[in-house]
Amino acid sequence: MTLNLTPDELLSTTRAVRKRLDLDRPVPRRLIAEGPPLTEDIRRMNHAPRSTQGVFDGLRHLTDNIHRVPAFVIPAIEGRTDHASTAVQSGTWGSILPATWNFMLAARARGLGTTWTTAQGPLEPELAATLGVPYNEVMLAAFIPLAYTIGTDFKPAPRIPRDQILHWDRW
Ligand SMILES: Cc1cc2nc3c(=O)[nH]c(=O)nc-3n(C[C@H](O)[C@H](O)[C@H](O)COP(=O)(O)O)c2cc1C
Repeated sequence: MTLNLTPDELLSTTRAVRKRLDLDRPVPRRLIAEGPPLTEDIRRMNHAPRSTQGVFDGLRHLTDNIHRVPAFVIPAIEGRTDHASTAVQSGTWGSILPATWNFMLAARARGLGTTWTTAQGPLEPELAATLGVPYNEVMLAAFIPLAYTIGTDFKPAPRIPRDQILHWDRW
């Protein structure tokens, strides 16, 4: 079952969901592993489990309830970039980031909420050891809580005025 969203609605309303994650409803494994929008990378990585007041409240809510989140998606990619050049880093992150975002869009289309989370970064070695991931060969790029959302209507994300970020021909 997918929601009836236009591509523009999907792109503008896939928001960081924290307070509206349904923490009491399990997410079936088959849904996590489903279909064409997921790349091979994402399937393999499925190991386990603006500074406003609203964001801080949301962060606190997610932190306090992290143990109740029904599933986590942990995008992983072969090759570490800890000391790599910008060119190597952009190649690596440029591969895993769109794959992960595709997963988040596909989740939203199915009534599931996600939040791009990197706060686990300092714990990556520990997380890798717990999951049996070879830390020296594989990077855990993010930590994505996944749950059904409470309601499926989300406001479009605010946009920075285009003139502030778009440069034509030169910076
Ligand atoms: C690189 C990156 C790291 C992030 N890390 C966290 C995080 O550790 N914890 C969290 O709750 N949200 C995290 N977020 C989500 C942002 O806080 C979220 O995108 C922001 O609140 C904007 O909300 P919106 O998606 O509803 O527009 C991260 C986002 C990005 C792009």
